Amino acid sequence: MGLANKHIVLGVTGGIAAYKSAELARRLRDRGARVRVVMTKGAEHFITPLTMQAVSSNPVHTSLLDPDAEAGMGHIELARWADAMLIAPATANFISRLAHGAADDLLTTLCLATPVAISVAPAMNQQMWRDQATQDNIEILRKRGILILGPAEGDQACGDIGPGRMLEPDELLAALSGSFRSGMLENVKVVVTAGPTWEAIDPVRGITNHSSGKMGYAVAEAAAENGARVTLVSGPTGLPRPDNVHTIRVTSAQEMYDAAMEETAAGDIFIAVAAVADYRPATAAEQKIKKRSDTLTIELIRNPDILTAVAKRGLLFTAGFAAETNSVEMHAREKLTSKGVDLIAANLVGGGEGFGTEDNSLMLIDKTDTKTLPRMRKSLLARRLIEEIAERYHAKNPTQGPR
Ligand code: CTP
Repeated sequence: MGLANKHIVLGVTGGIAAYKSAELARRLRDRGARVRVVMTKGAEHFITPLTMQAVSSNPVHTSLLDPDAEAGMGHIELARWADAMLIAPATANFISRLAHGAADDLLTTLCLATPVAISVAPAMNQQMWRDQATQDNIEILRKRGILILGPAEGDQACGDIGPGRMLEPDELLAALSGSFRSGMLENVKVVVTAGPTWEAIDPVRGITNHSSGKMGYAVAEAAAENGARVTLVSGPTGLPRPDNVHTIRVTSAQEMYDAAMEETAAGDIFIAVAAVADYRPATAAEQKIKKRSDTLTIELIRNPDILTAVAKRGLLFTAGFAAETNSVEMHAREKLTSKGVDLIAANLVGGGEGFGTEDNSLMLIDKTDTKTLPRMRKSLLARRLIEEIAERYHAKNPTQGPR
């Protein structure tokens, strides 16, 4: 699923990140894609066509007016052959030429000649990325529907720190496979919980946690991208309602439970991403509590476990998250059994990991297997997770098929 048998034209331009393009080509092939590499003159200073030929198992295209190449697969055939184009790395110069419709080498010509989606992974010095000229060019590309992947922030080859690093090959793969709207969950009803809950102590105070809701929102969006009818039951977050997703905002665990139970009555897949408070104050004071004594005891009572309750309903597929600070796999396996779910996506939290961060990695645990999705942006990780869930959902319910 995703990239299998897809024809990808991988464009490589002249930046130091070109060394990662070889790994990218190899990973594309590992995922079942067929790859043809097009290199600019600049790219050849950083990596040889021979390397790219070896990893892509196809001749590399370097020139627009090469009679041999045109006799084999010319630029128009190549443009037609592609299911998608990915330019990684894309230099500031290439981005500028693309924005202005240049057609003076093979890669820019292909970009004009192809009807398929083009994705661009910028890679450059942080100041060059921030420069208004580059930002204007990027805006032009975005308006044209070109997908801009990254860049990431971090240490740069030139010694600077900032935005401009090319995304890692795994992140690019996830984005590219997500760009093929697969319809893997066409018409399947998916319910997702997200964010923290707020358990009121009095009208102004409450118990909550650091969950940002980013992962749950990304999961809901990724399911919708794949054709699912999605309901997102969200605790308090500052995030905007995602497109194409029916969003129900709740505050407490009890409200989240009620909404989730109502929505899953006719649901197919339930994905519990929310960080639900396990306990709530036994009673919430009606007026603001005044500081009258040196100590204050608040009695807490258990909240219902939403995931366990939904799993008992016998939906076609249920998945939960496990946020752990230690022994991740062991605790996650325990939750798989105790909550009676099909899949647990486990991650490490605390020490700067997990909550509130932009990226994450996940360990996927089901009855037979453990699989790791490497660290990447939450939006991309969510797409990979939805692919994995869709595969398992269809394997478990072969008669359902995409409806
Ligand atoms: N969950 C839920 N309802 C609750 C508590 C948790 O639906 N009242 C779901 C979460 O959304 C998540 C999974 O259960 O998908 C695991 O939650 P987690 O807080 O990691 O585990 P707990 O069951 O609370 O166990 P513990 O706190 O002991 O680790």
